[in-house]
Amino acid sequence: MADWSAEQYLKFEDERTRPSRDLLVQIPVADARRVVDIGCGPGNSTELLVKRWPQAAVTGIDTSADMLRQARERLPAQKFIEANVAHWMPPENTDVLFANAIFQWVPGHLRQLQRLTGALPRGGVLAVQMPDNLDEPVHVLMRDVAQSGPWREQLAEKARVRDALPAPGGYYDALGPLCTRLDIWHTIYNHVLDDAAAVVEWVKGTGLRPFLDPLEAPERKQYITEYSARIAAAYPPQADGKVLLRFPRIFIVAVK
Ligand SMILES: C[S@@+](CC[C@H](N)C(=O)[O-])C[C@H]1O[C@@H](n2cnc3c(N)ncnc32)[C@H](O)[C@@H]1O
Repeated sequence: MADWSAEQYLKFEDERTRPSRDLLVQIPVADARRVVDIGCGPGNSTELLVKRWPQAAVTGIDTSADMLRQARERLPAQKFIEANVAHWMPPENTDVLFANAIFQWVPGHLRQLQRLTGALPRGGVLAVQMPDNLDEPVHVLMRDVAQSGPWREQLAEKARVRDALPAPGGYYDALGPLCTRLDIWHTIYNHVLDDAAAVVEWVKGTGLRPFLDPLEAPERKQYITEYSARIAAAYPPQADGKVLLRFPRIFIVAVK
């Protein structure tokens, strides 16, 4: 997949950071020695971690050069490392592993979450949030358009769509035996966006990338036109003209 665009991602920074804030308040660690922000992106989630544990060594890891560049600019005093979490081990004395909106992209993430929990010290916490929205119109329509245009075969072959998440019980069974406490919950956000075009802009920075990346510019434009028309029908304006982007997310706080 092409690199992420920090600029596109940050167009909705406040809304995208909200789940990090909601996850952070549920982490029962008063003093942390080392904290790692896995999939730190442009540093928006890392900044929250630095504020919560100002005495800790806070590190961000990410695979995206553009995201890391932005994160280093934002938080010059923190360490940011280019690393794929699938091949990464937390350093010793890491008390908190924080991962906001990344593990849905990591193949076989259940095994990865087990491995990372296993590497924590006693009392250490793995805190994870993932979008659980593949059945929402915003995603269903991406797949519908992919299957109905001239790009059908190309996307069937090349679009690396993310896997559906396991049910909460899957996380409970996988992580429960490793934990002294396991908290799993869903929150459904209703993000207020200016209009249906803003819904398309939102997913251009995330979920739409696997569908757009394989296409050449003219097909990409055509795909977006087709997708935008369907999104406008699925996300009608409210009384004030704004639209609500319904967005279910799953949260997990695993205490070793
Ligand atoms: C949706 S952004 C989340 C950014 C930030 N954590 C936040 O809360 O907004 C997902 C980030 O995960 C990174 N990422 C995806 N797969 C990864 C992997 N296997 N290892 C490390 N980072 C990864 C992407 O590069 C991207 O910056």
